[in-house]
Amino acid sequence: MISKEENDLLTRTNAGAPAGELLRRYWQPVALSEELPAGGAPRPVTIMGENLVLFRDEQGRPGLLGLHCSHRGTDLSYGRVEDGGLRCLYHGWLYDIRGCVLEQPGEPGGGAQRDAIRHLAYPCREAGGVVFSYMGPGDPPLLPSYEFLTVPEPQRTVTKIFYRCNYLQGNEGNIDPVHLSFLHRYLNESQAVYKRIVPGTETTDNALLGQDLAPIIEVEVTDYGLRVYTVRGAGSEKRYLRITNFIMPNLSAFGGSTVGEGYAVHWHVPIDDTSHWKYVFMFNREKTISEELRQKHRAESTPDYRLNRDGANRYQQDRDSMRTKTFTGMGFNFQAHDAFATESQGRIQDRTAEHLVSSDKAIVASRKLLLSGIEDVRQGREPRHRIRDPEANRFPHLMVVSEVIPDSIHWKDYAKKLVEEGQRT
Ligand code: FES
Ligand SMILES: [Fe+2]
Repeated sequence: MISKEENDLLTRTNAGAPAGELLRRYWQPVALSEELPAGGAPRPVTIMGENLVLFRDEQGRPGLLGLHCSHRGTDLSYGRVEDGGLRCLYHGWLYDIRGCVLEQPGEPGGGAQRDAIRHLAYPCREAGGVVFSYMGPGDPPLLPSYEFLTVPEPQRTVTKIFYRCNYLQGNEGNIDPVHLSFLHRYLNESQAVYKRIVPGTETTDNALLGQDLAPIIEVEVTDYGLRVYTVRGAGSEKRYLRITNFIMPNLSAFGGSTVGEGYAVHWHVPIDDTSHWKYVFMFNREKTISEELRQKHRAESTPDYRLNRDGANRYQQDRDSMRTKTFTGMGFNFQAHDAFATESQGRIQDRTAEHLVSSDKAIVASRKLLLSGIEDVRQGREPRHRIRDPEANRFPHLMVVSEVIPDSIHWKDYAKKLVEEGQRT
């Protein structure tokens, strides 16, 4: 449980609000590259309560500008992409991606004073199939060279999902290891759509998650955020170890269909305080992602990135299937389960009414990191994981594990060994 003041600190992300100022110190996803094809239309986007227009200029460069024209406020997302920028339909002012007014064609001489106007513009970068923007003050930090952004295109995939709730409860779901034994469990393995045999065993994740409902959970603070160890019994002299990560300030890395050769990431970007986009990344550092897996990655979604199951249709819950198929009665797609669990907490979860228990320790630790990041920004210090040094811009120690290990090695020693191996490569 936290106070109302702390809940407000953590959840409010408009410009000037404490979490908004923290999130603005990092590059944030603002669209999928596929939403912004060369020669395509500009798109209105709302990020952290700011109404903006995203467009791709004739050179293919993404630009993110204030939505309303600096002249008399007309919506620039209806504008023409031409002559080196985005042209407003009302009186033809032309903006480049830096927010410079290139032309005021209705003024004598093309507008002698036009250089005095600088339209709101945020720098953009493109990586891993996503357009990122830096919406904070000063020089942007480096865009992190995460593996899921830098492996060759055939080895990665990304999509996004609309969430009707605050970004924070979305991300807290990723570092809540106990829910895997309940929310996502399926009851009949032979019918399961998602199934993986865990290395070192002949059994599935689902079976192991169902065998030990009350795992050991440990949390370690790292340079990027938190490493979360979840350890379950797995039969005689074996343990089922999962390692997931909270990455400052609004993303998490965890297992998924490519675990062992890669991992999945959820990055929760506020649209406003009561809705957000969850960017869903998956990569494989060894091999191509199959077409089948790419399709699965976008299962049960509309072309505009909404889940078919939502609160309006009660997540299409089928109570018969709760007896024979799944714990939730909401199908096999874990994205729908997560949407149900987090959206149904309310648009902004009232954390003054929660009762956290020992297994919520990663959530508690992540809030502490966020609050200290908010304080860092207030004090003019660099918050954790704002990367300036190119040498520090690699993450072999950001690892995700889901495997069975012998009892004879402690899970932390096992992780240390993996980090050392990763750092040598
Ligand atoms: S309102 Fe855009 S050019 Fe006048
Ligand atoms: Fe989940």
